[in-house]
Amino acid sequence: MMKIVSVWNPKGGQGKSLLSLNLAACAVSIFDLTPLIIDQDPQGTCQECSNEGKLTFKVIGEIPKDKPKGIDLVIIDHQASDWELPDTKILVMPVFPTRTQFKTYSRAYTLAKKSNKNIITVVNNVDMNRKQERNAAKELRQVGAFILQKGSPFGHAESHLSTIFDSSISSIKDSYKVKERKSEIEAILTAILREK
Ligand SMILES: Nc1ncnc2c1ncn2[C@@H]1O[C@H](COP(=O)(O)OP(=O)(O)O)[C@@H](O)[C@H]1O
Ligand SMILES: [Mg+2]
Repeated sequence: MMKIVSVWNPKGGQGKSLLSLNLAACAVSIFDLTPLIIDQDPQGTCQECSNEGKLTFKVIGEIPKDKPKGIDLVIIDHQASDWELPDTKILVMPVFPTRTQFKTYSRAYTLAKKSNKNIITVVNNVDMNRKQERNAAKELRQVGAFILQKGSPFGHAESHLSTIFDSSISSIKDSYKVKERKSEIEAILTAILREK
């Protein structure tokens, strides 16, 4: 059965596009699934990466009229400032671990909870060397959130318009703690695939 998830947080720069791309790449390389990204922003990050031609999955610009064939997982990458609650039951909400970023997230989370969404929170870009960030992440983990640490593999992937699962590029493949970051993405995807 095809699963649909929205990656949503009205705040920009929380890692929505990064998560969409890497979850899709993980679905292909670890789970042998066929994902599809719908990039809500037609000039968006995912489209740009897709145009480069190195991705292992398709990215399209809008929700298709007919149900796409042969797709296991649809990931909708939402744009910033989008306060419209997505239609999908499952939401993935990335948030950076700082007080100011939490504000928008909390408002959006409350909105989503009222509508009975299944929410997977990802505390993203966590610098474990910073006590405040580490503690914020741990606190949220205790209530079921996932942690994605800040990592250089994402920077390397971004500069090649690719993902951290791209082993054809040595600067990505050999990047610092790439295995750990991949495991974190895999854990998030496992949770998504388990959701009803
Ligand atoms: N875990 C992370 N480690 C390193 N850089 C990150 C991480 N998460 C996000 N970033 C960086 O932060 C920036 C914003 O991410 P992006 O996915 O474009 O956010 P959004 O789609 O929510 O606006 C990008 O440059 C991205 O590479
Ligand atoms: Mg984006």
